[in-house]
Amino acid sequence: MASIEPARPEDVVSVGRISESVFEDYGDYGKIVAKFFISQGVTTYVARVGAGVVGFLMLGFLPWSGGDSEGNPWIADLLAIAVVPGHRRRGIGKAFVEQMFKLAGEMGEWRDVREIQLTCAAGNLVGLNFFSKYGFSVIDPRHGSYLGGQAALRMGKKL
Ligand SMILES: CC(C)(COP(=O)(O)OP(=O)(O)OC[C@H]1O[C@@H](n2cnc3c(N)ncnc32)[C@H](O)[C@@H]1OP(=O)(O)O)[C@@H](O)C(=O)NCCC(=O)NCCS
Repeated sequence: MASIEPARPEDVVSVGRISESVFEDYGDYGKIVAKFFISQGVTTYVARVGAGVVGFLMLGFLPWSGGDSEGNPWIADLLAIAVVPGHRRRGIGKAFVEQMFKLAGEMGEWRDVREIQLTCAAGNLVGLNFFSKYGFSVIDPRHGSYLGGQAALRMGKKL
């Protein structure tokens, strides 16, 4: 079974490679995700099997830009989640989401984190089904498009 762990700096290479192949239809996400990896406020977890990385989840925390800005609210942004094809349907995605909820809960002890949001391609039925299962719903069905041209939608889950 894979173990879910905070990423080490050298995991940027594996995370970039996984993004490049899993998200290849959507644009140059190998490079984009590698940039997120080293960005301030972004936490990455990897799924490790032996010495290999078979998946990752990346979560960023941002100041809230919604209408109700009373206090000092924050939002958690699930920037990317991917499991390599040979390791799917074994509970790794679920374990990542549980780790993400745990981290958001911990952040919530000292910041006003109101919601977790994410962007998913409208045609990514596996992704939509996966996120719905863990309590996310569509909050913006027309959230622009990916670099590859696919329509993007925004999903959110209140905390
Ligand atoms: C979405 C993704 C991360 C799920 O990872 P995973 O490790 O396979 O997920 P899990 O094994 O934990 O599955 C959890 C639940 O999600 C749902 N699910 C996952 N894959 C599914 C599939 N192919 N078809 C239908 N439901 C699916 C199921 O309800 C599953 O529970 P079950 O196995 O008990 O039926 C993985 O499919 C992936 O990397 N996809 C490509 C990248 C992507 O689309 N990312 C999301 C957009 S950023």
